[in-house]
Amino acid sequence: MSEQKRIPQHVAIIMDGNGRWAELRGKDRSEGHAAGIEPVRASLRAAVRNGVRYLTLYAFSTENWGRPAAEVDALMELFCQCVANEAPELIRQGVRVCMIGDRSRFSEKVRSALESIEKQTADGKVLTLILALNYSSRSEITRAVQQIARRVAAGELAPEAITEQTLSESLDTAPWPDPDLIVRTSGEQRLSNFLLWQASYAELWFPEVLWPDFTERDFDRALEEYARRDRRFGLVKDK
Ligand code: IPE
Ligand code: IPE
Ligand code: MG
Repeated sequence: MSEQKRIPQHVAIIMDGNGRWAELRGKDRSEGHAAGIEPVRASLRAAVRNGVRYLTLYAFSTENWGRPAAEVDALMELFCQCVANEAPELIRQGVRVCMIGDRSRFSEKVRSALESIEKQTADGKVLTLILALNYSSRSEITRAVQQIARRVAAGELAPEAITEQTLSESLDTAPWPDPDLIVRTSGEQRLSNFLLWQASYAELWFPEVLWPDFTERDFDRALEEYARRDRRFGLVKDK
């Protein structure tokens, strides 16, 4: 990769600020979530244009179930609508949609919508869009540890044979490389239970822009910021 234009292979975004965007306009929070769809399209276009291979979007955390029922319902409805409306454009762009998180808690309607988009886009080769839905990193790690413990209990795996790779391969994110860049909009500087294991060496960027106002240009800015970072992975920089 050339030093002038280092493109992250995998970008992950914590799409935050929908509620504040709506409140600033005297609107209902759910309108803020609806306004968060266009920035998803914009990010996808920018990611494809720049040659990013994996884009993970944090859309709903396990903690978000604790929000008012009307807001949760509006979000579920939005997921179903999006999945139905966006399929043709995703297929046209060569985007493959995958999911991380525990989908067992979703209603049958949401689950089948998600399965449908995964199936319809399964041949996408240009970019993999990974939706984090009912996702939290601690829950993901806990499920991974349970899976490893079952293999140990069944005599398939010796405890000493457990490596970092064993854990990585037991996470929902097993098929993909770790994120190179994590962006969180709205100025909040925290990870909120997102990709804690995978973020070990990710570059972090926290723009002030609220998610509904995020544009293709903002995505380009994130890549420009990334290109300026000096990733050392604990080593000494090459001369
Ligand atoms: C992020 O926006 C979207 C979800 C968490 C689903 P928020 O709804 O958290 O917006 P703020 O943080 O309240 O502004
Ligand atoms: C994180 O945002 C989850 C998503 C963006 C889906 P939150 O708004 O839920 O996180 P906190 O509550 O500010 O930490
Ligand atoms: Mg928030």
